[in-house]
Amino acid sequence: MKAIEKYAEENNVPIMDKKGLKFLVDYIKTNNIKSILEIGSAIGYSAINMALSGPNVIVTTIERDEVRYLEALRNIKRFDLDKRINLILGDALELKLEEKYDLIFIDAAKGKYIDYFQKYAPNVKENGTIISDNIYFHGLVEQNKKIEKKNLRQLVDKIKKYILFLKDNKEFETNFYKVGDGLAVSQKRKDDNENISNA
Ligand SMILES: C[S@@+](CC[C@H](N)C(=O)[O-])C[C@H]1O[C@@H](n2cnc3c(N)ncnc32)[C@H](O)[C@@H]1O
Repeated sequence: MKAIEKYAEENNVPIMDKKGLKFLVDYIKTNNIKSILEIGSAIGYSAINMALSGPNVIVTTIERDEVRYLEALRNIKRFDLDKRINLILGDALELKLEEKYDLIFIDAAKGKYIDYFQKYAPNVKENGTIISDNIYFHGLVEQNKKIEKKNLRQLVDKIKKYILFLKDNKEFETNFYKVGDGLAVSQKRKDDNENISNA
């Protein structure tokens, strides 16, 4: 694992920080998660850690950058996890996956989080969850001072819009955690018919 962390640092590959990763792995264990879809594999660091959280955990992970995809493939093989991690090369917004998952983990382009969420919400099982990383984006989302760089300001505005989108969402209930770079845990609500039949 140290070698992957070193490669990420030397090659400027953004990977999850350790506190966020621990939260994610604990969540998987506590909630008995078995099937995961990750959007944004980079070099496979979080996918490998999620797969290692339990012997029956199966991860599908999507990466659009070919160099990172190839490095992820190598890393997954090193850990002998190719039977439990299904790595897909492609743009998550262009793929069509039919399967449903216990957990979807969103960790790709920050400006597109609403798009990923809307596209993949139908792939979440009943009682399943979507976890999104970088919700506080290095503290910039919460600071009131005007951000000078236009690109950065626009990105932070998009994350703020995503937070509002999650707060307003009727299908999922979201809790926000100030751990790592900020994580949002969105739990699929039971549909009304189910609530009535269970009443
Ligand atoms: C923050 S990194 C992922 C880090 C990884 N989850 C980890 O912690 O080890 C985000 C990755 O998402 C990829 N990405 C961005 N947009 C994407 C898309 N639409 N489809 C698939 N991958 C995407 C980027 O190429 C980048 O490698």
